[in-house]
Amino acid sequence: MKIGIIGMGWVGTSIASALLTRGEVRELYVNDIRSGVAEGEAMDLAHASAFLRAAHVQAAELEQMHACDAVVIAAGRNGKPNESRLDLLRDNAAVARQLGAALRGYHGLLIMVTNPVDVLTHVLLEASGLPPERVLGTGTLLDTARMRHRVGETLHVASQSVHLNVLGEHGDSQVAVFSSARVGGVSLRGWPGWDRAAEPALADSVRWAAREIIARKGATNHAIGMATAYLLKWALADERRVLTVSRLQQGAAGLRDVCISLPAIVGRRGACEVLEPELDDAERAALMRSAQVLREARYKLV
Ligand SMILES: NC(=O)c1ccc[n+]([C@@H]2O[C@H](COP(=O)([O-])OP(=O)(O)OC[C@H]3O[C@@H](n4cnc5c(N)ncnc54)[C@H](O)[C@@H]3O)[C@@H](O)[C@H]2O)c1
Repeated sequence: MKIGIIGMGWVGTSIASALLTRGEVRELYVNDIRSGVAEGEAMDLAHASAFLRAAHVQAAELEQMHACDAVVIAAGRNGKPNESRLDLLRDNAAVARQLGAALRGYHGLLIMVTNPVDVLTHVLLEASGLPPERVLGTGTLLDTARMRHRVGETLHVASQSVHLNVLGEHGDSQVAVFSSARVGGVSLRGWPGWDRAAEPALADSVRWAAREIIARKGATNHAIGMATAYLLKWALADERRVLTVSRLQQGAAGLRDVCISLPAIVGRRGACEVLEPELDDAERAALMRSAQVLREARYKLV
């Protein structure tokens, strides 16, 4: 795998490190607007590779990214404490537009990580002119992982056995789909001792997780680094995992013309098949509201 990462801050470096540690990448190109940072990170990561499966790491110009199987964008600025992801929009949209233009005609997968990730996926899609299945946002992949962790912890079960998707915006309007959640094939709501009254607080703990972490350490990086590295591995190995990623929706769950997370089968050609999620009435209404939040955020840009 030849992978490019644009933006070598907290998140970009964590993605690089997770990729190298897993031994999945043969060539890693890193880029940052601060070219010295990209060069320094490439040197540091290359030295670490002495302990890992051989990989070549180098600082690269944007034009060189065209040779990669996948390019991840973690460039832009981070959220401040008490700032909504949508507050970041204007600054980071300018970066996404510039990078999309530089990647026009690119043949591989583009993965947007920078926030607000859903709207920026849309900006990147338009600026790059690539087909919608090849321009993904990590979306609620991280929120779903956080929710599986929280529920697993509550039930004393491995989070890998918890199947509970968080859909919608990677942000405040996200929707945790408890109604169809299952644990080892058993309905979550039928699990002995499961307390439905605790669901809203659980959903909020995931909704606000990033703010809690940013308030303490200034950024979130480890979990998104791992989530993105696995997304790349599964996609490029064409494993066809069902993942909650953001892409332009074209009718599933009644959603169109908005980049938002729904479950999708992800393979080497991207998020080609979007699945129809099983939702109750309240969840469906919340998903529609979430899509509206994202549409309004995007309209603010035009
Ligand atoms: N999608 C998610 O689940 C998720 C999770 C965590 C963080 N994030 C987001 O990822 C983004 C990056 O976060 P961070 O903590 O790494 O920020 P950071 O400030 O540490 O790093 C951003 C990097 O981008 C670089 N950069 C800025 N403009 C650039 C350009 N035009 N070209 C190349 N590089 C450029 C900066 O020099 C910097 O090194 C933020 O928007 C953050 O909110 C997303």
